Amino acid sequence: MAFPETRLRRLRQTPGIRRMVRETTLSVDDVILPFFVREGISQPHPIASLEGHAQWPARAVVEEAKAVADLGIPAVLLFGVPDRKDAVASSAYAADAVVCRAVEGIKQARPELTVVTDVCLCAYTDHGHCGVVRQGPRGAPIVDNDSSLELIVKQAVAHARAGADVVAPSDMMDGRVGAIRTGLDHAGLTDVAIMAYSAKHASAFYGPFRDAAGSAPQFGDRTAYQMDPANGREALREIELDVEEGADIVMVKPALAYLDVIRMAAETFAVPLAAYNVSGEYAMVKAAAARGWVDEKRAAMEILTAIRRAGAKLIITYWAKDVVRWLSAR
Ligand code: PBG
Repeated sequence: MAFPETRLRRLRQTPGIRRMVRETTLSVDDVILPFFVREGISQPHPIASLEGHAQWPARAVVEEAKAVADLGIPAVLLFGVPDRKDAVASSAYAADAVVCRAVEGIKQARPELTVVTDVCLCAYTDHGHCGVVRQGPRGAPIVDNDSSLELIVKQAVAHARAGADVVAPSDMMDGRVGAIRTGLDHAGLTDVAIMAYSAKHASAFYGPFRDAAGSAPQFGDRTAYQMDPANGREALREIELDVEEGADIVMVKPALAYLDVIRMAAETFAVPLAAYNVSGEYAMVKAAAARGWVDEKRAAMEILTAIRRAGAKLIITYWAKDVVRWLSAR
C-alpha cells in the first residue's frame, strides 16, 4: 500500500509516539569520559582547544572523578601528561608515573568507577611518536614496531598494577594486543581487560587532543602506523587480528567520519564495539556553537545518537557530562 493510505508522518505526530518508535537510544551507560592528568602542576590548566576540559593535577583528578561517578558515568579514560620526555618514554612506565598515581587515587576514592588508561608512548617521547624511533634502511627515521612493544607492555602492566580495570593501547603497533595480554597474564593480572584502539586512522581530527596531551610528532606524521582514512576493509582486518590476540573491546576511531566502518565492524564481530568521538569532532561543534551557527546540545546528541545507530555500544566523548545533563532534562 502506498500514498495516500500509507502516511509515514502518522508516527511523527506526537512526542509520545515518536518516543515509542525511536530505534536508537543513548544512555549514560554508553559513555566514557576522557581525562588528562598532568604531572607537576597544582591547579587545573584549562585546555583552550577543548573547551570545558582541563589538565588535572593527580590529586585534583580524584575529586573530579568522584563528581563524574556521582553523575552515574560508568568509566573514565585517563591520559598522562608527564614532566619529562625522553627517547624511550621512561615516564610512561615508571612506578610513580602520573597516570598510575591518578589511578590509585581514583580507585581508592571510587572503586566502582571503571578506570581505563590510554596506553601509548607519544606523550612521553621527546620526538612525539607512538613508539621507539630508529634510523631506517632508507636513511630516514622510522618508528620501530617490535622494540616499541616491550615498552608498551611495561606501560600497560604499570597501569594495571596501579589498579586500572581496562588498558587501552592506542599506538597502532602490530602485535601489541597479544603482547599486552601475555604481559598482563604473566604479571598475574588476568582480569584486567584490553580495549584496543583497533581501527585507528591517521586523522586531522586529533588536532585539539595533541594540544591537550602535548603529543604532536616533532617530525613527520603518523601515517606509517595509523591507518589510511580511505580504508574500511583494512579496518576489519585490524579488528580481526586484535580479537584473535585477545582484545575484550575493540574500537573504531575517529567516529563521525567513520560511521560506515563502525557499521561494518558491528555486523562482523560479536565483541563489544567502542567508537571514539575525538577532540576535533567536539571542537568543531563547540566553535560553530560559539558563533551561533549550530545548537550545541542538538548537534552533539545527533552525532552521538548517529554513532550508536551505526552500531557502537560505547562512545568515548568529551560531552559525557553534558550527556547526563541533557538526558535528565528531557
Ligand atoms: C595517542 C592518542 C591520540 C588520541 C587518543 N590517543 C592522539 C594521536 O594519535 O595523535 C586522540 C584523541 C582525540 O583526538 O580526542 N596516540
